[in-house]
Amino acid sequence: MTLLDQIDKSKLPTHLAVIMDGNGRWAKQKGLFRTMGHEKGSKAVQEIVEACGKLNISYLTLYAFSTENWKRPKLEVELLMKLLVASLRKEIKTLQENDIKLNAIGNLESLPKKVYKELLDVIKKTENNSRMTLTLALSYGSREELTKTVQEISHKVKNNLISPENIDETVINNHLYTQNLPDVDLLIRTSGEQRISNFLLWQIAYAELYFTETLWPDYTKDHLFEAILNYQNRERRFGKTSEQLKE
Ligand code: FPP
Repeated sequence: MTLLDQIDKSKLPTHLAVIMDGNGRWAKQKGLFRTMGHEKGSKAVQEIVEACGKLNISYLTLYAFSTENWKRPKLEVELLMKLLVASLRKEIKTLQENDIKLNAIGNLESLPKKVYKELLDVIKKTENNSRMTLTLALSYGSREELTKTVQEISHKVKNNLISPENIDETVINNHLYTQNLPDVDLLIRTSGEQRISNFLLWQIAYAELYFTETLWPDYTKDHLFEAILNYQNRERRFGKTSEQLKE
């Protein structure tokens, strides 16, 4: 029986998020430039997006570029931006064929104009697709997102559009970049690092966390299937007891 056959299709995570890590180490191990790790990493993105689409995962969110990644060497940032534009141009066909809608979260206006324009173009072209929503986190940082949210709500309070007593979790949710996405069910991080790195801090409140040693450029659909199988064997209690879940 293949790994795919073992997956219970009625118990899939609705929202899967991935911190794609290890491109640089992958390249270093092979004596290559870091940028080549990113190039191989973009091929892994393609394989995982297609696999999630076929599996009927409704939401896939990928951490492609963090607010902190701007501090990397200029050439590496430029290459990542170029790769992004090239991948968007190349992948539009895959997105259409697999009925995948592209979405993006983050401080998108800080992206180079060319990337921003390409991104909006693919988002527009795929807006009517409905099988899966693929969200790219670009120039994204959870603290920046939460700061922006507090600022926006404060302005509304100041202008008497909302009273402080009426600020609840739904109001906060509705001001996040992820306002149209459900909470994350499963968060995968590759490359052996066991941290969250400012990714979807609010949205992962009840997510199952899965860490794997595999470096992102080596990540294949079988690794993904293993992670989903592991997730399906966990008991998600959301604060309740085991007994209550059986009632
Ligand atoms: C982490 O590896 C990866 C990134 C900072 C960028 C992720 C980008 C891609 C996978 C390529 C293009 C993306 C898309 C969506 C087409 P790292 O460089 O931090 O690795 P290291 O920790 O080993 O140095």
